[in-house]
Amino acid sequence: PLVPVILSGGAGTRLWPASRSHYPKQFLPLLDPQRSLLQQTLGRLTGFDRPEAPIVVCNEVHRFLVAEQLRQAGIEGADIVLESAPRNTAPAIALAALQALSRYDSARLLIMPADHLLEDEAALAMAVEQGRALLDEGYLVTFGITPRSAHTGYGYIRSGQALTHGMAVSEFVEKPDAATAEGYLQAGGYFWNSGMFLVDARALLDALAQHAAAVLEAATLAWQGGCRDLDFIRPDATAFESGPSISLDYAVMEHTERAAVLPLSCGWSDIGAWDAVFEARSGQRDAAGNVTEGDVLLEGTRDSLVISQSRLVATLGLASVIAVETEDAVLLASRDRMQDLKQIVARLEQAE
Ligand code: GDD
Ligand code: MG
Repeated sequence: PLVPVILSGGAGTRLWPASRSHYPKQFLPLLDPQRSLLQQTLGRLTGFDRPEAPIVVCNEVHRFLVAEQLRQAGIEGADIVLESAPRNTAPAIALAALQALSRYDSARLLIMPADHLLEDEAALAMAVEQGRALLDEGYLVTFGITPRSAHTGYGYIRSGQALTHGMAVSEFVEKPDAATAEGYLQAGGYFWNSGMFLVDARALLDALAQHAAAVLEAATLAWQGGCRDLDFIRPDATAFESGPSISLDYAVMEHTERAAVLPLSCGWSDIGAWDAVFEARSGQRDAAGNVTEGDVLLEGTRDSLVISQSRLVATLGLASVIAVETEDAVLLASRDRMQDLKQIVARLEQAE
């Protein structure tokens, strides 16, 4: 069986003030007024060949949001695995693999972040189909995106020998520094890691045992000590939190020799920050290059994203800004500084 695993535990701090810790970005309709990013991700599943009900891994404080959004999206029978605290993606994926293997003798997991844009869903479905063959050959499958810049927020995959489909991964480097990323771009032959993975659940657990035993140990203890109420699965908090906090990229992908990459051209982007929202909604730009939402009035303003949630927002003589108004906070920022928004959120948290 093909089991979609949706990672929905991120905090989305670079999308403040729309994204808040009790209501982070994946639950917001940032790109499509009708659907949240999570619901857009769930919508992608219909393209696959007979997928099982998904496993969603999220923080326990978001359990009702997730349950309600699944219900609205018409998804039935999902398992919602609740983390008592964020421990990054490796422990989350370990829990999902254990959960899948408690239901099925074997399972192929299609791991998907809940906060990505993916325009060509048929292309993804086709890549997943090709990936199934690679799983039978013992590979952990990544999906490679042709790099558009020397972005340092992504994993970089150097492709090696050709396989039945795609290529073997000859090197995986998570979030290189700017000079290294620039070098990869110049050299060619590198992909961005999309953050989606297709793995056999047992092979994934084996890879964790080999490369990140402490992650597997904590997740296994947590899962065994856990309980179920309704659709919610609650791993034991103490055991879970005793494990390391680490992403699958650092824990496994940088070390394994059994990874493959399938090039994927599908209009992908990680909606990490406001500039990505602006890019993803470029189809909605007006003649001056602005993307707007809500009650706004723009005069002599260009190449800006202006969002109003509760009051009229007027701008005059601005260029390349991000303006996001919410009931209790307003962000006014330069578009090219969006990666630094984390610093503002950190200061807010300190002040609390
Ligand atoms: N359940 C759960 N628990 N989910 C989590 C947790 C957690 O503790 N931490 C993060 N996630 C979810 C996020 O919500 C997101 O959907 C996904 O896992 C990836 O986490 P990010 O924190 O957004 O990772 P990243 O963007 O820095 O890097 C990853 O994605 C890049 C592509 O967007 C890596 O896989 C990179 O290699 C990759 O290039
Ligand atoms: Mg991300």
